[in-house]
Amino acid sequence: MTASTSAAPLPGGKTVLVEITGGVAWVTMNRPEKRNAINPELSFEMLDVFEALEGDDRCAALVLTGAGEAYSSGMDLREYFRATDKLNYDERLKIMRKSAMAQWKRLQYYGKPTIAMVNGWCFGGAFNSMIACDLAIAAEDATLGLSEINWGIIPAGTVTKAVASVMGQRATMYYIMTGETFDGRKAAAMGLVNEAVPRAELRARTQQLAATLIEKNPMALRIAKHAARRVRDMSWEDAEDYLFAKLDQLRFLDPEKGREKGMSQFLDDKSYRPGLSAYRRGPS
Ligand code: ACO
Repeated sequence: MTASTSAAPLPGGKTVLVEITGGVAWVTMNRPEKRNAINPELSFEMLDVFEALEGDDRCAALVLTGAGEAYSSGMDLREYFRATDKLNYDERLKIMRKSAMAQWKRLQYYGKPTIAMVNGWCFGGAFNSMIACDLAIAAEDATLGLSEINWGIIPAGTVTKAVASVMGQRATMYYIMTGETFDGRKAAAMGLVNEAVPRAELRARTQQLAATLIEKNPMALRIAKHAARRVRDMSWEDAEDYLFAKLDQLRFLDPEKGREKGMSQFLDDKSYRPGLSAYRRGPS
C-alpha cells in the first residue's frame, strides 16, 4: 500500500470524525444525539476511515472513541434492525458483512496499534469494536452493559464470542444473562478494559499510552500483536513453530533493522537498557 502524503485530506467527516495530533489518529463515532448508535452509514464510514488511516504516514496509532456522552449505544435498533427486517436475506447479509468488517474484522488485525477510549455509554454491539482494539481504557464512571437480554435477543454478531475472549466465564454468563450494567472500574477488574481512570484524565492517559506505543518499532509491534491474537487458538507446538517463523519474517521485513540497532545500542554503545525502554529509532 502506498502511504499518503501529509497534504492528503483526512478521511471521515460526517458520522465519523478524524483528528491527527502527534502521530495519534483520534477517530470519533459522531452521532451524539443518538448516543453514537451504529447505523449502516456510520459503519461504512468507519470502514473507509480505517482503510485510509492504515496507509497514512501521519497516523502511527489509532484511538477509537465516541462524541458526547457515549462511546456507543450499540447497533442502531431502528436502522440496523427494524429497517433491515424488510430486506431480503441477501440484502441484509450484505449490510451485516460490511458492518462486521468495520466493527471487528478490520480492527482485529489492524496494521497499527489501536486503543478504545471508552468515554461513556457502551452497549451490546459496541463491545465488538472495543474488544477488537488492541487495548482499551475506560472512564471510571462509564456505563457498560450487554442489554440484549432486556429486549429479547442474545448478544449475537460475535459480541458473545468477543466478551468470552477477554472476560472470565462467570462474569460473561452473569452479564449476558442479567443485562445489568457495570462501570469502567468493574470493566477493568474483569479484564474487559486495561484500566479505568477518572474522566478528567481519560484523554491524557490515552494519549500517553499511544505515545508509548509510537516509540516502539512499528513492524515489531504489528507482528507481535497479530501473533498474540493468533496463538490463542494454537497448540503449543504450532505456536512455537509459528512464532519462530514470525521472528524470521520480522527480521526480513523490518525496514529499520531494529534487532541489530537495539543490540548494538545495548551491547556496544551501552547507551540504553532494553528492559527499561525502547531503543532509539531513526538513523544511528
Ligand atoms: N439504537 C437506536 N437509537 C438509539 C440507540 C440505539 N441503540 N440508543 C439511543 N438511541 C436514540 C434514542 O432513541 C433517542 O433518540 P430520539 O432523540 O430520536 O428519541 C436518542 O438516541 C437519545 O437516547 P435516550 O435514550 O434519550 O438517551 P439517554 O441518555 O437517556 O440514555 C442510553 C442513553 C442508556 C444509551 C439509552 O439510549 C439506551 O438504552 N439505548 C439503547 C442501548 C441498547 O440496548 N443498545 C442495543 C444493544 S444490542 C445490540 O447492539 C445488538
